[in-house]
Amino acid sequence: MHLTREEEKIYNGEFGESLETCMNLLVSLGDIYGAEKLVDIYSAQVSGVSYKTIGEKGLEFLKDLADNNIKISVPTTLNPAGMDLNRYKELNFPKDFAKKQIEIIDCFKKMEIEISCTCTPYLTGNVPIFGSHVAWAESSAVSYVNSVIGARTNREGGPSALAAAIIGKTPCYGYHLTENRVPTHIFEVDIELEDSISFYGILGRITGKIVKNKIPYFKFKNCDSIKTDYLKALGAALAASGGVALYHVENITPEAKLGILIEDVEKITIEKKDFEKEYDYFKTSEKPDLVCIGCPHCSLDEIKEVSEFIKKENKKFKIDVWVCTSIHMKAISDRMGYTKIIEDAGGKLVIDTCMVVAPIEDMGYKNVATNSGKAATYLPGFCNSNVIYGTTYEILKKATE
Ligand code: F3S
Repeated sequence: MHLTREEEKIYNGEFGESLETCMNLLVSLGDIYGAEKLVDIYSAQVSGVSYKTIGEKGLEFLKDLADNNIKISVPTTLNPAGMDLNRYKELNFPKDFAKKQIEIIDCFKKMEIEISCTCTPYLTGNVPIFGSHVAWAESSAVSYVNSVIGARTNREGGPSALAAAIIGKTPCYGYHLTENRVPTHIFEVDIELEDSISFYGILGRITGKIVKNKIPYFKFKNCDSIKTDYLKALGAALAASGGVALYHVENITPEAKLGILIEDVEKITIEKKDFEKEYDYFKTSEKPDLVCIGCPHCSLDEIKEVSEFIKKENKKFKIDVWVCTSIHMKAISDRMGYTKIIEDAGGKLVIDTCMVVAPIEDMGYKNVATNSGKAATYLPGFCNSNVIYGTTYEILKKATE
């Protein structure tokens, strides 16, 4: 891989061991994947924040960087942590866990990373320009930034995104190159689109399993109703069930609108029976002990939907309800009065974390209701949970019964 003189100096350790380690990681990745050079990045999004996912080894690695006074060089946001950083005591997060989580956050703070702790950084100010290069790590955010915004990132791991944030560059291969962004499969969705997050989660699960880590191109019958929240849900489920980092939607996503090269592409029709089969998979008589909305983290619209449910039904929740979101969305929700409505009914607006990266199994939750195709895919493996799947209305209704 070609390095500039400046890059070479970093690589050779002239600016210290920590920067050398970061540069070595990026160059090794570039060599493995055949990159010819490094490219400047507009922003980074770093995963590996929850103590549940990185453990003691991850914490030591971060302490090393922070203690060596290493700072990021481009705007960088953080993925969700393992707990609500403001209300972890009230929400009964285990004490030992909380202590370790705070140590992790302190390391990132020292590196000057924005302690945003959200998987929807594109809703909170980390919004790259179309066509720009970025190094993002969280799979649903990667899918959104590549597909809906049209910036370019590979699916970075926590360490490579952090190294890129520090160096300000990433190896130029994979999704950074135009020729690797063309569709591999066309999905004709032969069913009326439903006005619900859970519908797009199911579609993402069905098609993600077929396409795996390739690039789907969707043709919908009536795409006027597609909100960005639905694209967020679709991309998250595609990323979780198949490893998709980029998808296109005809007449909707920017590269599809510009006219993308589509030739020799496998065509697959998705029908009603495919949806029925996928919904059947979740049929259960189990009752939830936790209802979770917000995977990926809720937009303000999704929070409003919960508050409107409460106003309409005029009932209290009988079990725990978490509405997971960013600190930014909560601030607006507080101001709009949605938080008060939700919390007066017994729900909680939980920030900085989510049902998958929080240690919910240690907190005694076993049956988790979700409207998210991504959460439904990860909850059994990551949290040993049984999944109850439904629309936002259906799962909130269960919480009032
Ligand atoms: Fe975000 Fe957690 Fe889902 S990180 S995408 S809410 S699994």
